[in-house]
Amino acid sequence: MSRDLDALLADLTIEEKASLTTGASMWTTHAVDRLGIPSITVTDGPAGARGPFIPGIGSQVSTLCIPCGSALGATFDVDLLYELGDALGQQTRTKGARVLLAPTVNLHRSPLFGRHFECYSEDPLLSGLLAASFIRGVQSHQVATTVKHFVGNDAEFERMTIDSVIDQRTLREMYLLPFEIAVREGGSLGIMTSYNRLNGTYCSEDQSLLTDILRKEWGFEGFVVTDWFAGTTTAGAAKAGLDLEMPAPARAYGRFLAEAVRSGAVDEADLDRAARTLLSVFDRLGALDDDPVTPQAVDILQHREVARRAARASFVLLKNDSVEGSPLLPMNVQTLRSVAVIGPNAGRARIMGGGSAEVQPHHRTAIIDVLRESLGDTITVSYEAGCHIDKTTPTIDPDVVRTTAGDPGFTVTVYDGPANADLSADEHLLTTLNRADGRIVVVARNDPGVPTAGFHFSAEGLVTVRQSGEYVISLVELSPCQLFIDDVLVIDGQTTLPPRGQAFFGLGSEEISATVSLIAEQPHRFVLTCDGTAKQWAHGAEIGMQLVDTGDSIQRAADLAARSDVALVIVGTTDDWESEGHDRDSLSLPGRQNELIEAVRAANERTIILINAGSPVAMPWADDVAAIMQIWFGGQEMGIAVSDVLLGTHDPGGRLPTSIPFRLEDTPAFGNFPGEHGQIRYGEGLLMGYRWYDSRDIPVRFPFGHGLSYTTFDIGTPELDHYELTTSEDHQATGSIRISVPVTNTGRRHGSQIVQVYVSPRDPQVHRPHQELKAVAKVELAPNDTETAVLTLTSRAFAYWDPGDHYRGVLRPQITGHTTTNHEHRHGFWRVDPGLYDICIGTSSREIHHTATVAIHPALANDIGSET
Ligand code: BGC
Repeated sequence: MSRDLDALLADLTIEEKASLTTGASMWTTHAVDRLGIPSITVTDGPAGARGPFIPGIGSQVSTLCIPCGSALGATFDVDLLYELGDALGQQTRTKGARVLLAPTVNLHRSPLFGRHFECYSEDPLLSGLLAASFIRGVQSHQVATTVKHFVGNDAEFERMTIDSVIDQRTLREMYLLPFEIAVREGGSLGIMTSYNRLNGTYCSEDQSLLTDILRKEWGFEGFVVTDWFAGTTTAGAAKAGLDLEMPAPARAYGRFLAEAVRSGAVDEADLDRAARTLLSVFDRLGALDDDPVTPQAVDILQHREVARRAARASFVLLKNDSVEGSPLLPMNVQTLRSVAVIGPNAGRARIMGGGSAEVQPHHRTAIIDVLRESLGDTITVSYEAGCHIDKTTPTIDPDVVRTTAGDPGFTVTVYDGPANADLSADEHLLTTLNRADGRIVVVARNDPGVPTAGFHFSAEGLVTVRQSGEYVISLVELSPCQLFIDDVLVIDGQTTLPPRGQAFFGLGSEEISATVSLIAEQPHRFVLTCDGTAKQWAHGAEIGMQLVDTGDSIQRAADLAARSDVALVIVGTTDDWESEGHDRDSLSLPGRQNELIEAVRAANERTIILINAGSPVAMPWADDVAAIMQIWFGGQEMGIAVSDVLLGTHDPGGRLPTSIPFRLEDTPAFGNFPGEHGQIRYGEGLLMGYRWYDSRDIPVRFPFGHGLSYTTFDIGTPELDHYELTTSEDHQATGSIRISVPVTNTGRRHGSQIVQVYVSPRDPQVHRPHQELKAVAKVELAPNDTETAVLTLTSRAFAYWDPGDHYRGVLRPQITGHTTTNHEHRHGFWRVDPGLYDICIGTSSREIHHTATVAIHPALANDIGSET
């Protein structure tokens, strides 16, 4: 039931209004019980609705995990993004939340950006269109999105303080554009400011950003929230237009805002605006009538299905050459007898990147397991890791551990009293919990039945390894623990406490380890005992496990490849290499993966490479291998989707949302990334991504928009409903252009194609990139079918941002006489210049099939009005 907000606001005291503007906890806002205003729960994020939990710690409830942002960018599919948003909106409600902290629409400015995996593309239009559709899907469930991080957060280096130095045109045409589309077309009810400064001002205090651009120009009706712990000054933020500071405890808002209003440092009108905006969004969602909901793990078949479709639609077949007369993919299961599945990412499902986007998925399946299942009856499927790529000993994976009852994970039994009490004493039993993987952390008070202190627990799991051998087993402790394997004490971190390290936000110990022999396919009983006597927020340890590298692992992989019909090598990164909080420092695949690929390729020319990473990686071996497919971090259904595409039941639908360069030195931000002396200069300006490579004619390994299908297409001659437009008095193009492009499936399989329209000004009056993507359409076709893709170009497709007279200096009296422009443009505006524009119809930025030309004529003299 809709509330009378005027009356509600009038009833609230200054302190109550101010309490609404800050978090009550990590994931909730304050309630005002007196007036029936409930606390609202928010949840991360772009990969799934995690619920009110810190990633990787305590009893998270599992959730749907969809492919990462760059994978979604590769789908180029707005309808699919709506469906994914729809699923995540529903999942958000099952977690008792009304706000989903997503999507992330910062741009792929550098392939080294730590959160590259989380963002959609290097192209702002593609990012914006996908985000808007995702937002409409989420918000159809009465859940607000917070499109993030507003703006210029395209690197993780010094992320809480760095100053992103971006000129006005670049800001408008590139970095603000996805937000503009998310707000104007997606109707996002929230926006999250970034940690960084923009041209000297913290984004959460930037009035021109939060009020002038966002609210006045774009008509934003939602709330502005800080990124977590990014609150800065009280008066600056209140005046700028910030509504909510998260999380608790408050630093700038809450009681500080109340005090500032009482002292006159902040106008009460600014407090009222923030409180009213929040209440109006919550009211619009129906959330003011909410009762508390306990987070649920809801595993819905249609959600799994859409995640699987999305993964398939994101896989980009980069290369698929013929060996002995036929392409390597799809694999011909009729003729195959043996497949070697090789690589560090073959045996561990790398389905998401690291940081706040992490979720606990309903399930995850390693590619080797899926292929054994789908091929194992008729074909020999063998496995070798080849090399390791983990930064530290990796946590025991959920895939390899089962409780004694056969469920995934460890059973944690919590007892009252100190660790030396009798562990089996039933009268001391407090509660039983489950932990999905080797991160066995019990959070005091948060886990049901666990007291603040004065307890101990044991965690038991049966671990089954894929390969016999010597394993490093490790512990990183939060509290004193001992680890037993098959009843033998293997690591004692209780008698002697290890020194403090960096894990668990600096509260964990350094890693301690031992080496043990484990036998393949035989369950080994792991028992961790832990003392929870001390009063601290969490207790437990992370158990790591890794096969000792005997030095001949690459040779073993090559030998396996040599005796197999096909070698499938799954290489890539992990959520440690690609994570929020730090950038990568190299494009190279970590560890000895390049060496592994070369050895396997030398042993078998039928080698297929799958790249399981959220960002571009260097591929020095690309010319030597016949088939390469980028599978990104594909979400919980990645394994099964890989099998669908490898075996050819489905076409790989993805196209590159980001150029793959040859070398880091070729990339646009090189020399200006990650920044220095507190600044990151966007020195390449508009020439970012393919705009850079195409304008400068720099070769790339694989261009933006590229991706192969298992079938072939003919892109027919486009027809435009207009070939001429005119500019209006306010420098807009009058009318729009509809482009019809007939696409025919000329091959023998069902498949999809992405039609890409680039606009290239012939003789621009200002500096412009060689060409820019202005419309996309996806078509799916059965063999011999033709469908006409219809794409529309409006005035904005031809426009650039004119920063206004202010920037030209014409407002200075002494040079006013020199200006030739009219004086109405004190502020910036979108401007279309008359001239010829090539309309390029492509299937990548480097594969243009047809070019049509549009003439934009100047406004007629008597239409120009004040123009002289
Ligand atoms: C991230 C945000 C996230 C927030 C809450 C921050 O560290 O930058 O994207 O939504 O944490 O987890």
